[in-house]
Amino acid sequence: MTTQKSVNDPVFARRESEARSYCRSFDTTFASAQGSIMTDTTGREYIDFLAGCSSLNYGHNDPDMKAALVDHIAGDGIAHGLDLHTQTKADFLEAFESHILAPRGMDHRLMFTGPTGANAVEAAMKIARKVTGRTNIIAFTNGFHGVTMGALAATGNGYHRGGAAMDTQGVTRMPFDGYAEGVDSAALLEQMLSDASGGIDAPAAILLETVQGEGGLNAASAGWVRRIAEIAKAHGALLIIDDIQAGCGRTGTFFSFEEMGVTPDIVTMAKSLSGFGLPMALVLVRPERDVFGPAEHNGTFRGNTHAFVTARVAIEKFWSDKAFEEELAHKATLITTGLQQLADMIPGAKLKGRGLMQGVDVGSGELAGEICARAFEQGLIIETSGAEDEVVKVLAPLTTTDAEFRKGFDILTGAAASILETTKIAAE
Ligand SMILES: Cc1ncc(COP(=O)(O)O)c(C=O)c1O
Repeated sequence: MTTQKSVNDPVFARRESEARSYCRSFDTTFASAQGSIMTDTTGREYIDFLAGCSSLNYGHNDPDMKAALVDHIAGDGIAHGLDLHTQTKADFLEAFESHILAPRGMDHRLMFTGPTGANAVEAAMKIARKVTGRTNIIAFTNGFHGVTMGALAATGNGYHRGGAAMDTQGVTRMPFDGYAEGVDSAALLEQMLSDASGGIDAPAAILLETVQGEGGLNAASAGWVRRIAEIAKAHGALLIIDDIQAGCGRTGTFFSFEEMGVTPDIVTMAKSLSGFGLPMALVLVRPERDVFGPAEHNGTFRGNTHAFVTARVAIEKFWSDKAFEEELAHKATLITTGLQQLADMIPGAKLKGRGLMQGVDVGSGELAGEICARAFEQGLIIETSGAEDEVVKVLAPLTTTDAEFRKGFDILTGAAASILETTKIAAE
């Protein structure tokens, strides 16, 4: 029997590590969830504009994925199979090939890594280094790629890198698109790489997110990404696109780069890949770059059999035709409209991001945090992002209904209005 824990049950504070994070902002005890609604143990409902940080793009407990998984378990389907051939893996590979890769003309192979995004990034960086015999990887300001040592070196955020308590190595950081006003950062990279005294070792790879999820929803332009792809090619480096947060439909298309005219050598994926919140990560790698020998990037949990079941359903249900993508374009517009209302309330505030990963830079982490905290009191789960946590960031499930979006934005703008009013009264 499980006992229902109350909000104030001290077991979390008593026993859970100080490393816990999201639960500090959303201090209740959650019990169940369906679609875009989470319910706590007191029965209170919350609209979820966080979606497991983009791990629940199709909402909580999608009924078709749930039914397929329940059937699989009830039929004693394989639960863990190392990387043995299983029917569920074959079915997932077939679906991914026919609905995702083939229509986009991608010849990439799928390499299953350990189940976290960070592990996929580690594998991608290792592949690039193995292919080129070079160490250096170019990563960008405000990039976030995970917190294991290799991925952490590529992560800009100093707080996270500080957690390593030692030097992180093998990465040169360059300004992302739009980072320094008036600076063409692609031209700068090209110039420094081409200059024998530019001080940058020949790179194994250039690693980027097309929209920096944790780094403040900085969206690179298609032209910038294309130029970076050309620079990578000209300098013998692999192009790695980290689509762990921006992929699986988050920007409005399955991959975040698919309308940019680039073909990355490597794509990293995790988060919403399983469709159901189950851990699974992979590296998509062009066949000529598929250089690891058997078990060279080993791991007990490479490919999660339950995730194969739900991921196959997710792909067949949402990506076998254009209908879902069309809905996403409509929802992206709804989000822009909702966030514009918020931005209009705050002098100097700016819209950030694109597709269904948009937010508002409200100018300070303190204000963004207060708005999100007030929104949570009113029943909306929403988080911040950016170097100073200054961006109020919407990462709602892509399946969120128009009515839920409207209700969520009402709560958000109401929360902002009440915070701004309190600040104004305090200043008077
Ligand atoms: C773009 C990007 N890459 C990598 C990661 C790391 O993934 P994980 O937390 O599953 O290790 C994240 C996590 O937020 C991410 O947003």
